Amino acid sequence: MAIFLDTGNINEIKKYHDMGIIRGVTTNPTILSKEGVKGGMEGVKKRSKEIAEMISPLPLSVEVTTNDMDRMLEQALDFAKWANNINIKITIHGPEGELENLKIIHELETEHDVRINVTAMMSAQQCFLAAMAGATYVSLFGGRVNNMGYNACGEISRLRRLLDSFDLVSQIIVGSTREVLNIVDWLDAGAHIVTVTPHLIKGMLVHPYSKETVQMFLRDGEKFDN
Ligand code: E4P
Repeated sequence: MAIFLDTGNINEIKKYHDMGIIRGVTTNPTILSKEGVKGGMEGVKKRSKEIAEMISPLPLSVEVTTNDMDRMLEQALDFAKWANNINIKITIHGPEGELENLKIIHELETEHDVRINVTAMMSAQQCFLAAMAGATYVSLFGGRVNNMGYNACGEISRLRRLLDSFDLVSQIIVGSTREVLNIVDWLDAGAHIVTVTPHLIKGMLVHPYSKETVQMFLRDGEKFDN
């Protein structure tokens, strides 16, 4: 089980990578745009290479920016060459439910040896099909599932049972974290990985009572200074 960081922010990645508590990084076009990555695709390449080098050999997910099949294949093959530890995020289907994405995903995994993270999934059944197509990672958006009124933990545990009983090797990444408690809840439900926004890692780590206890130790420790 592992925690990935869901961000494109170099300082945050360095901070938590240096602590040894993350096992990978995930990005998407929305995350990179919010981080202020500029300069078109060259900017994405520069930031992705910088992250990939910093965390190597841990994996970095970089998402394609098109749903045109030819360009998607072209981008996936190109991005995968930026660094050995880059895997490619492709959505489960197109913006109108176009089905061809899984064909490209299958082709990239089986014919081009490119690791794929199938993304934007809201149910165990979508993830199961992505796993059948050969995806290395299947990304379920837990926070969005809960926001729709469904139970992310139920989807995660059902998916884990399906993958295990079909001997499918895909790793379940649960993303779209909204609360600190999501992290351990989703790992406990069967996620292999939860990808977490940096502020939630801080929330997981810092406890008011720990602060108070540390303050007590330091206060009493001062009595021995001379
Ligand atoms: C996962 O890999 C995605 O990058 C991410 O967690 C999506 O989260 P959101 O629902 O906050 O956009």
